[in-house]
Amino acid sequence: MSDWTPDELKAANARYLWHPMAQPKAMRDAPPDIIVRGEGCWIWDADGNRLIDGVAGLWSANLGFGRREIRDAIVAQLDALPYFNVFRGTTHPRAIELSARVVKLMEPDGVAAVFFSNGGSDAVEGALKLARQYWKIRGQGDRIKFIALRQGYHGVHFGGMSVNGNTNFRRPYEPMLPGCFHVDTPWVYRNPYTEDPTRLAEICAELLEREILFQGPDTVAAFIAEPVQGAGGVIVPPANYWPLIRKVCDKHGVLLIADEVVTGFGRTGHLFGTRMWDVKADLWCLAKGISSGYVPLGATAISSRIAEAFDASNDAMSAVTHGYTYSAHPVAAAAALATLDIIERENVTANAAAQGAHLLSRLQDLGRRSRLIGDVRGVGLMVCLEMVADKATKKSFGRGATEVSRVAREAYRRGAMIRTSGPNIILSPALIIERAQIDLLCDVLEESFAAVER
Ligand SMILES: Cc1ncc(COP(=O)(O)O)c(C=O)c1O
Repeated sequence: MSDWTPDELKAANARYLWHPMAQPKAMRDAPPDIIVRGEGCWIWDADGNRLIDGVAGLWSANLGFGRREIRDAIVAQLDALPYFNVFRGTTHPRAIELSARVVKLMEPDGVAAVFFSNGGSDAVEGALKLARQYWKIRGQGDRIKFIALRQGYHGVHFGGMSVNGNTNFRRPYEPMLPGCFHVDTPWVYRNPYTEDPTRLAEICAELLEREILFQGPDTVAAFIAEPVQGAGGVIVPPANYWPLIRKVCDKHGVLLIADEVVTGFGRTGHLFGTRMWDVKADLWCLAKGISSGYVPLGATAISSRIAEAFDASNDAMSAVTHGYTYSAHPVAAAAALATLDIIERENVTANAAAQGAHLLSRLQDLGRRSRLIGDVRGVGLMVCLEMVADKATKKSFGRGATEVSRVAREAYRRGAMIRTSGPNIILSPALIIERAQIDLLCDVLEESFAAVER
């Protein structure tokens, strides 16, 4: 607990702390909520309010707060060895155990090895770099380009930012990495092509193929996408989309990178998002749920196709000259090992599927009744309410509209933490959430929409 009073914390936050994804001055005018404690799916703010956490920190604290086993593993590791590096020459037991554990877990997906880092953006950077390196050691050094989806989110490093499909994250930091291109995502609610999801997936897969052909297949390293687009508004692709893009990639020799930073480790109700589509990727980006957010950790999982190419090469180019001081940090690895124990023992993935179905159905019901909700979509415990100015025409709110933030403030006042992103309200509670807590979250949302629509 802080020795500072809530007012001291708020004043110092406004004065000293710059926040990700926020205008510094705006944070002074509308101060952020200060969260001081968590237990299960509950959080407390500095003013003593208790709230149900509808976002699991940031779709990351997937096992809820206060898990004794994770805490004990972290403390034991701090006592034994708080840090050592895994650069060539040294390693440590937790890194080795976690690598074996992740590879075993993902063996059905074709994973052969794993490279650790500190978070999702790192995991993406690792995947993009390994993809380029793979082609260099295979003697196809012209394959340097990346294709990605509009509305995609892949973190904030220069590589990830350059494949992001939302210009908001890119404009202030342009120019981007050369060689990154975007194609339309199969977004059923908003697309200029068709209302038929199956046909939409075919069209979007064709758009990917046209882009690969336009660029020249022998210049394209990889296509990167999220199995379900998260930050872009929980855009769930039609069931035939991923099998089709896998085919397109195979036809033109392009690697498929699955960014599973959000979807990995159970959030969709499947252990990995790619399993939902019955597709194997070539590289996977993992973070968040791997350590339940208790300690920062990222990982890039590597398929046997890629691992074999590195193994077969004697080229100096096949040394992985990428990595971080804190790659495979022992404390993070210990937290992840304890997290994976719980994920498997408690079958939280099945709970995510069951509670997610209930959440979606209750919110769809709310969506039918509310004049401000244009679309309700999601899978497992990732759900989005897209708010609109006009339901019939799907017209978006203009600049300066306050409806979305007002719903969030009403919800907070009533005891629920939800997340807003543009016109969207995004819900991503911990995977251990119970039905009564989902009902509470939905009751609060119903009241909050009613208050704003009044
Ligand atoms: C799909 C995806 N990739 C990458 C990232 C970046 O992760 P981080 O914020 O840990 O760098 C995120 C973050 O939300 C994400 O949703």
